[in-house]
Amino acid sequence: MYGTAEQVVGDALKASNSREMAFIATKVWTQGREQGIAQMERSMALLYTSHIELMQIHNLLDWRTHLRTLTEWKEAGRISYIGATHYAEEGHAALEEIMRTQPIDFVQFNYSVASRQAERRLLALATERGIAVIINLPFGGGRLLQTLHKRRLPEWAAQIGCTSWGQLMLKFVLSQPAVTCVIPGTSSPDHMSENAAAGWGVPPEPDFWKNRMNVFAV
Ligand SMILES: NC(=O)c1ccc[n+]([C@@H]2O[C@H](COP(=O)([O-])OP(=O)(O)OC[C@H]3O[C@@H](n4cnc5c(N)ncnc54)[C@H](OP(=O)(O)O)[C@@H]3O)[C@@H](O)[C@H]2O)c1
Repeated sequence: MYGTAEQVVGDALKASNSREMAFIATKVWTQGREQGIAQMERSMALLYTSHIELMQIHNLLDWRTHLRTLTEWKEAGRISYIGATHYAEEGHAALEEIMRTQPIDFVQFNYSVASRQAERRLLALATERGIAVIINLPFGGGRLLQTLHKRRLPEWAAQIGCTSWGQLMLKFVLSQPAVTCVIPGTSSPDHMSENAAAGWGVPPEPDFWKNRMNVFAV
């Protein structure tokens, strides 16, 4: 589903001899036990590994079937962690139910300055259940960022170590104590470096944003 991503990551890790330093996360996205197994075996082959740190069930497709396989694989040591993902508010109720009832280690969902529904229940529930959280679509797909780029950064951005609108949006997400990791998408190495810099320093407390959210209004 992500083109040549696994092959590219596998080749890069191999060429730089850095597999041991990497935490590999990928996803299964198909119907049926055998198809799921075939897809995950292929991921392992493309990544040149016999062990994947995190395997996620993408958009909850046929999740009951894959969860059974992943539970077996975790017991057998083929994966370390099991995850489930969605990318839209419509998927939050189903994710919530899975978080409440199933033995998952990670959950991935959308959250950004423009889409804050996860604050209602998912973030607190993850903390309560000890589930790690990966945030996707932290720029809401990027359109808001294009608008914000035409404006000056607020002066207070420097206080929290931000030099760009992208970093501000990422620090906002990282301010939530429940968030383990945020995965902005980009096709640009320059954007990737800029975004990665948002991972430095201690993120502000959630309260920091209380009277500052108006800067993101469009
Ligand atoms: N169901 C799921 O599991 C699911 C669904 C959707 C997404 N995801 C995951 O979430 C991740 C993010 O999704 P996404 O890429 O669709 O949305 P996103 O991270 O919210 O936004 C990406 C957009 O922001 C732009 N951008 C990134 N950094 C920038 C910067 N520093 N300055 C200006 N523009 C910048 C990118 O353009 P450039 O290419 O020009 O940088 C791209 O158009 C993906 O890696 C994907 O794996 C998961």
